[in-house]
Amino acid sequence: MAKGRTRRSRNLTPFGASASPANDREESAVDWQVVKGDWLSASAEFPREAVDFLYADPPFNTGKTRSSPARAAARGRESDAAYPDRWQTMGEYIAWLHERLVATLPAMKRTGVLALHCDYRACHHIRLLLDKLLGEANFVNHLIWSYGLGGSSPRRFARKHDDILVYAIDADRYFFEPPMVPATSQRLRGKLKKATDVLDIPSLNNMAAERTGYPTQKPLELLTVLVGAFSPPGGTVLDPCCGSGTTIEAAARLGRNAIGIDLNARAVEIVTRRLMTRGFCGPTVGTGRGPNPSARPA
Ligand SMILES: C[S@@+](CC[C@H](N)C(=O)[O-])C[C@H]1O[C@@H](n2cnc3c(N)ncnc32)[C@H](O)[C@@H]1O
Repeated sequence: MAKGRTRRSRNLTPFGASASPANDREESAVDWQVVKGDWLSASAEFPREAVDFLYADPPFNTGKTRSSPARAAARGRESDAAYPDRWQTMGEYIAWLHERLVATLPAMKRTGVLALHCDYRACHHIRLLLDKLLGEANFVNHLIWSYGLGGSSPRRFARKHDDILVYAIDADRYFFEPPMVPATSQRLRGKLKKATDVLDIPSLNNMAAERTGYPTQKPLELLTVLVGAFSPPGGTVLDPCCGSGTTIEAAARLGRNAIGIDLNARAVEIVTRRLMTRGFCGPTVGTGRGPNPSARPA
């Protein structure tokens, strides 16, 4: 496990493990940690009702191995990162997700929000799963991430969006701070308006400075919108399939505490380097057994 802390916001260590000795903690610090492990086994370590916002961007069951983009090495980025994204059947994939969500729900605060990132392959299955687990009444949004880049097809409309399904633990009490975007209408020109459920944010192009080389990395802007909307300042964000750590960086920048988990050792290395090169200090390498080991900072 790697852990670190910044000085951007209120201090809170969600899993009871401090990145610094208690007596030198500051009121303004943010804790972040990244754990190498399976979302399922890591969730056994979660304390109850500690997480404000869970964002999960799991493999999409594309049937492929997802690898670093071609020519990443030539651009000085990670070029050997990869993760498998294949289940025998959709039923097995949904069962895999079901087991992990059930194990994680006790960690959510009563005011918490869960966002599941998926695409056309499994979105309809996952919507039914979340209805069952959280209740239809707690459905909040079906966000469309409209990303623009990519090819087209002569056989259908080009597929240019992902789906982000958002549910509250309790629809009467969840946290929401509406993101504001520039208004486009003539009447409101130059003003801000509340964002709609279509998030028009370009995917990362090959030259983007934030690109790490990790496959399927999401843009920081997308996670900044989601983390800002669904978690309070000083709150705790959990990403159990954190990949390159986009959620962790967005949370740290916004003054939220963050926990990332990933099965892939390369992901954990990349997140750690990413946070450190952005000035978020750390890390401490722990046992990797879970998010609450006894490892102390060096
Ligand atoms: C779609 S990628 C996440 C990308 C990430 N949102 C980003 O911006 O870089 C999915 C990640 O889930 C991880 N993963 C797959 N199975 C996992 C499991 N059982 N537990 C934890 N992580 C897992 C993969 O290693 C991969 O990094």
